[in-house]
Amino acid sequence: MKFLILMGSPRKSGNTAAFVQPFIDRLSQLGAETEYVALADLRIEHCKGCGHCQDVQDAYGCLIHDDMETVVEKIGRADCLVLATPIYSWHCTSQMKALMDRHYGMNKYYGSATGSLWEGKALALITTHGYAAAYANSPLEDGTKRLCKHSKLRYLGLCSARDLGTGERFMTPEAEADARVFAEELVKRMDSPEHSEKEIIIEGKRFHDMEGFYREMGRLLNHDPDFQPGHNLDALNDLLCGGFGAVAPGDFLTIRWHDFTKSLQDLSAENVQKIIQVMESSRPNNGCVVNTKD
Ligand SMILES: Cc1cc2nc3c(=O)[nH]c(=O)nc-3n(C[C@H](O)[C@H](O)[C@H](O)COP(=O)(O)O)c2cc1C
Repeated sequence: MKFLILMGSPRKSGNTAAFVQPFIDRLSQLGAETEYVALADLRIEHCKGCGHCQDVQDAYGCLIHDDMETVVEKIGRADCLVLATPIYSWHCTSQMKALMDRHYGMNKYYGSATGSLWEGKALALITTHGYAAAYANSPLEDGTKRLCKHSKLRYLGLCSARDLGTGERFMTPEAEADARVFAEELVKRMDSPEHSEKEIIIEGKRFHDMEGFYREMGRLLNHDPDFQPGHNLDALNDLLCGGFGAVAPGDFLTIRWHDFTKSLQDLSAENVQKIIQVMESSRPNNGCVVNTKD
């Protein structure tokens, strides 16, 4: 099993590089092959949108001859691509975006050529960010999930660590443990042929306080008559990890929270923040993303 880790920070010894290291170490311990590439060492020009690649059958076909050619060869040999990037302006860095845009020749959808050069491969995200995880990561993760669906790649999830910017050491024992656990989860997910994506919709108008919220989560996630979930965050974590009806272990979750402003008022911003934190970091991690709207 081969993992290609593409690291998109301009800081080659920055937070993202540090966060990726225990992830790579754990993959190697588990017997996976890894290859690490810092995009800062490469010259990857911007896609010009000329469409030439769409008429080149069975080859990448880009007219720009730069280091993307080597990256494409490496992608061809990898089973799983890991895009590691700091969040810059609610997305990846421009170094990573240039690479992502140059995916174009991998899919032959818009010209005389047909097929795909990377269909069936897996892709995962690793990020570091300043803001809280859900707020910082969701635009990049949503877009990446769509890119995967469009390109017929298996999206395997996201692992991230927060840079509090306080001048404290970025790599905490928790960040290191998260990176290692994510490596273990990816190896497991690569071994399981398929996973399914589940969507859970929380209707904020169905509850008015924390008790009501927990009851509603029980209704949405627990279809097991023998299990009575507690009304606390630990029980919520257990429900999210699956096995009680609505979610199976290993499923990837998208939670859509409607009437979110009402819930902020009903439950308090502090409680909602804690709830979202549990949702997005439930163990074992299910790649859960929370989208909120009114
Ligand atoms: C230009 C720039 C833009 C940033 N934009 C965001 C942002 O939109 N959201 C966020 O959560 N953090 C943002 N950050 C914080 C970085 O994501 C964070 O410090 C990260 O850990 C830096 O990783 P690195 O050391 O690998 O470069 C930004 C940092 C920089 C320098």
